[in-house]
Amino acid sequence: MASYKLLLLPGDGIGPEVAAGMQVVLEALKETGLATFETETDLVGGCALDAHGSPLADATLQRAKDADAILLGAVGGPKWAGVAYENRPEAGLLRLRKELDLFANLRPAICYPALAEASALKRELVEGLDIMIVRELTGGVYFGEPKEITVLEDGSKRAVDTQVYTTAEIERIAHVAFDLAGKRSGRVASAEKHNVMKSGVLWKEVVTKVHAEHYADLQLEHILADNCAMQLVRRPKQFDVLVTDNLFGDVLSDIAAMLTGSLGMLPSASLGAVDAGGLRRALYEPVHGSAPDIAGQDKANPIAMIGSLAMCLRYSFGLGDAADALDGAITDALSGGARTADIAGEGTNPIGTRAMAAAVADALRARV
Ligand code: NAI
Ligand code: MG
Repeated sequence: MASYKLLLLPGDGIGPEVAAGMQVVLEALKETGLATFETETDLVGGCALDAHGSPLADATLQRAKDADAILLGAVGGPKWAGVAYENRPEAGLLRLRKELDLFANLRPAICYPALAEASALKRELVEGLDIMIVRELTGGVYFGEPKEITVLEDGSKRAVDTQVYTTAEIERIAHVAFDLAGKRSGRVASAEKHNVMKSGVLWKEVVTKVHAEHYADLQLEHILADNCAMQLVRRPKQFDVLVTDNLFGDVLSDIAAMLTGSLGMLPSASLGAVDAGGLRRALYEPVHGSAPDIAGQDKANPIAMIGSLAMCLRYSFGLGDAADALDGAITDALSGGARTADIAGEGTNPIGTRAMAAAVADALRARV
């Protein structure tokens, strides 16, 4: 079996705890013969700032470029609240995304049967929910120029953000969405606001063209982003793959997240272009942050981190069977009653990070 190189960046707060939980699962993957990896561990975020004076050292960036995939825990925390803007822990993560040109952010919203009660919606609306939100991550209004605040003659201010998208940027994210849909139900919804935004007009035009030229056998639906927000809450199971820009994707993926229960359950992938060796540049991380309120207490839910590893197996290495086994092991552990505090609900005794990771690893061994 091929051995791939993983760079582990546990980061700050609960990052190292959930990353340790993931490593227990990596061991189980190896024992069962499902997948073997060489791993290297390095610093990112606040811990890197403390050690090197920068939230992402150049040597770490080089390791990230040399790795086949990166698994990151979380960065940040109150300890670094006062540091200069360009040195804040989050800047390390942003630099990593930018330098590796990770333009496609994949955020699944999955509702596990055992957790349907934890959703913000009624069980029948969310049970079996499995949406994949594909958010453009390196363009749009968060990066467009001009971006400034100027002072007007009367002393009041004027703020400008600019939404910019090019054909090439929309094409490449559309390809990611259609390729994913081809392996799922075959349905893509594309959300924009062509009724009021020029970038929305171009978005719709380019997605339509990519569909017609390359994926005519798949189903494409265009939906206005505000209607999409309503539909996500009204009847979320109508969606399979949902592709959208950076800003709408930020908001829509957070809405979808709340349909599934806890932040501690949500994995993500950020993908770049395919490199010369045929591998996609990729970083996998939980959606949650460093959770300083529970850090160091063995309370964090490691499932978002473990689910990020499952995405890594699937999207970086094409190890679909191993990924299915791992996703299944998460489902089994939950069905068996394993609950960290964030998903425990009334009257259930929660277990810790280490015990939850062990429950998933045991369930994985039991499946193979
Ligand atoms: P957060 O996601 O760290 O925490 C929000 C709430 O969810 C907290 O009550 C926390 O205890 C809970 N929570 C989060 N992950 C959990 C898990 N795995 N298990 C159980 N409960 C969990 O967001 P917050 O508090 O806004 O930010 C804390 C720090 O994290 C800040 O410094 C922020 O900048 C940083 N952050 C980093 C991110 C990253 O590394 N990608 C993303 C979001 C925030
Ligand atoms: Mg957000």
